[in-house]
Amino acid sequence: MSTETAEFVMPENGPTRRRVLGVAGVAACGVALTACGAGEPGVPAVPPGIKGKVIAKTADVPVGGGTVIDKWKVVITQPSAGVFKAFTANCPHKGCAVGRVEEGIIQCPCHGSEFAADSGKCLKGPAEAPLAEFPLRVDDDEIVLL
Ligand code: FES
Repeated sequence: MSTETAEFVMPENGPTRRRVLGVAGVAACGVALTACGAGEPGVPAVPPGIKGKVIAKTADVPVGGGTVIDKWKVVITQPSAGVFKAFTANCPHKGCAVGRVEEGIIQCPCHGSEFAADSGKCLKGPAEAPLAEFPLRVDDDEIVLL
């Protein structure tokens, strides 16, 4: 993926950041935002009510894929065998719930944004930010958000 979207100061009456990013490549996500993660300022914490709860069984999450837990608005992925990740299912673009997880990519059905299933990193816009990651632990065959 190209990272030709270096930061620079925009003139007040110049193009918007979004427009400039669009010129640099429709598929590019915001460079400055891709390093964000859970626990950083502005990144949501685990939603109240699900912290400490079993949200899925490991058998429900295919290797290389994932499962969207609609009830909790969380997507659980298994990027490689035995490695589980949890992210918000709310797309940072306009808030749609992400859909399928295939071949290591979490897809948003609304406008086509794509996110890495191992990190939540935005791979393809229009979203400009990653999916916030939630900490988890695996107890035997149960996935628990921390
Ligand atoms: Fe997900 Fe627009 S809401 S791409």
